[in-house]
Amino acid sequence: MAKIEFQHVYKSFGSTKVVEDLNLTLEDGKFNVLVGPSGCGKTTLLRMIAGIGPATSGQILLDGQDISNIPPGKRGVAMVFQSYAIYPMMTVRQNIEFGLKNNRVPKAERERRISEVAKVVGLEPYLERKPSQLSGGQRQRVALARAMVKEPKVFLMDEPLSNLDAKLRAAMRSELVQLHKQLQTTFVYVTHDQVEAMAMGDCIILMDQGKVMQQADPETIYGDPDNIFAAQFIGTPPTNILTMGSEGFKLGFRPEAVSLSGSPLPNKIFTRRAVITTREMLGAETLYKLHLEDGQEVMARLGDSSLAVGDVLQLQVEEESIYFFDAKGDRVRKDVAQDYLALLERVQRSNES
Ligand SMILES: Nc1ncnc2c1ncn2[C@@H]1O[C@H](COP(=O)(O)OP(=O)(O)OP(=O)(O)O)[C@@H](O)[C@H]1O
Ligand SMILES: [Mg+2]
Repeated sequence: MAKIEFQHVYKSFGSTKVVEDLNLTLEDGKFNVLVGPSGCGKTTLLRMIAGIGPATSGQILLDGQDISNIPPGKRGVAMVFQSYAIYPMMTVRQNIEFGLKNNRVPKAERERRISEVAKVVGLEPYLERKPSQLSGGQRQRVALARAMVKEPKVFLMDEPLSNLDAKLRAAMRSELVQLHKQLQTTFVYVTHDQVEAMAMGDCIILMDQGKVMQQADPETIYGDPDNIFAAQFIGTPPTNILTMGSEGFKLGFRPEAVSLSGSPLPNKIFTRRAVITTREMLGAETLYKLHLEDGQEVMARLGDSSLAVGDVLQLQVEEESIYFFDAKGDRVRKDVAQDYLALLERVQRSNES
């Protein structure tokens, strides 16, 4: 069990500033997912927690205690890397046992822990095999077992599934979620895949260029984005963002919030004439690209597959599905009533003209 806190953390590599004044709390026992584009600093954050790439300045606390001066092996954290290095000459058992031997854990205790962990990750039948005799997913489990057997307070995982094919990846995702339920320890899981983040995390930390853009549960990050970056990073296709007027305000709505119909519907706040320019059948849903009269483009994701390229329709969105953003890309929420209402009025007026 452990809570992790970053307080005014800075990290530079030479003159390159990767993280500046980061303040972030990862709650105890949660499945935390760090997600963001390549190079945003995810691995850097994990390495700081693990103690293998210290912060340039600031504090990192583990359960309220500053860990800056605690060596990596004594922090109670275990890390599983993207390219998990398991020793090819050792059996599965020896691979799992290795770290325990190094830490002088007595033999009886080692055996107890190995059989417990092997059971949890489903490696019992394979303990005497060499890694070359295992599938990719089984090897991945060896790497996990090696971390688990240390009984850490915190699990750090850096894209641990990226070497697996799509099917195995999906299976391992749910195994990891299951594992977290069983262990109830703090997980910090890194991925650049927003689908994986949404599927696995109970707390998502969305990062861009060393900054936390939003920290929330999956429902909130999807339905109530703090900024344009969050609205567009989470969800496929991304949230539509349209310009409105000259002050830099923007309006956003998800492709799945769009209604298309032959004539205007009641209760829709945003209405535009639009022509379908592409149509992509996804199965249960169909993706349409539409061209508005002012030249802007909109994606729509609908259950209705009967529309065709060239159809001219009313594109509409209701008020609850509209997000407003200021010139900096930050959300203008309803609780800033004056600005919000002014923007809403502007949208309504734009329908009539
Ligand atoms: N040892 C280093 N020396 C110089 N720059 C580094 C070093 N390690 C990382 N960086 C830079 O720091 C930034 C963050 O790197 P980091 O590895 O944390 O990104 P990431 O979010 O894990 O990306 P990815 O999804 O590609 O793994 C990048 O711009 C990277 O080039
Ligand atoms: Mg990385």
